[in-house]
Amino acid sequence: MKLKITGVVPLSPTIREFLLADAEGAPLPTAGAGAHIMLRIPGPERMWKNAYSLVSSPEDHHEYKIIVRRVEHSRGGSAWLHDHAAIGDMLEAETPQNLFPIPLLAYKHLLLSAGIGITPMLAYLQVLRKPFELHHCGKLEDAGAFAGLLPTAPNVFMHTNRNALDLEYLLAHQTLGTHLSVCGPASFMDVVLQTAQNLGWPGAKVHKESFGGATGGTPFIAHLRRSNITISVGADESLLEAIETAGLTPPSLCRGGACGVCETALLDGVPDHRDHYLSDTQRACNSAIMPCVSRAKTPELVLDI
Ligand code: FES
Repeated sequence: MKLKITGVVPLSPTIREFLLADAEGAPLPTAGAGAHIMLRIPGPERMWKNAYSLVSSPEDHHEYKIIVRRVEHSRGGSAWLHDHAAIGDMLEAETPQNLFPIPLLAYKHLLLSAGIGITPMLAYLQVLRKPFELHHCGKLEDAGAFAGLLPTAPNVFMHTNRNALDLEYLLAHQTLGTHLSVCGPASFMDVVLQTAQNLGWPGAKVHKESFGGATGGTPFIAHLRRSNITISVGADESLLEAIETAGLTPPSLCRGGACGVCETALLDGVPDHRDHYLSDTQRACNSAIMPCVSRAKTPELVLDI
């Protein structure tokens, strides 16, 4: 898809809203609440593929809306959108995918988000028909921007001190039939998911979406056994990006370690698992890796690609 930027709205010094329409003015594909869109963002040396949750109404076929935080040590995508993107610019995109749909079996929705993880929840709020309770954790400096996006309601809570949110109490005092949906940075998701697990929440009632793609780390070497290619993974690129730079096109979807689409068999080496997809047992086996986010603890990895 080719999309044209039709609006740029600063919500805070580091958060901007972007409106995107079809380049030819055609109706946009339907994207349910929780869907994300993959944008190809030009960089000086490479094209970045970044996923952003759609916050526009699922019924809006005229414009998609995304909200982008300028990441402090941006590898390219958010910095370009904040510093260069302007109304009229064209961006290539993939058709929206929904890996975080509203759980329809829920009698009540407990929505927990942190930071820019509020974005899929904003789409949810426009179509939820069941009772819900939303707790959003954000920095004090972002409170104004997020407060402007959220409805004022007794079941919507903003927390500028994440530690003040008593997760154990909250998760232990929900009515039967409540489903938990959580989105935020890894540190937030880890605490929420661990607390839910400790309290015995069944996995089928816990729904998650991580945001923010790969973060950098120590460079390493990856041998792609079936392709007979050896690649260097730089400090500021993901293993998946390095594989793509080598000319291969392995499957990927969320590029954030959540969907499982990029799962790759690991033949040798010790991975630095950074995903939210593999179970603890699978991680301990070190026989699979999610190359969109995970890296290496050993100088070299051998992948079955
Ligand atoms: S692309 Fe979704 S986990 Fe890697």
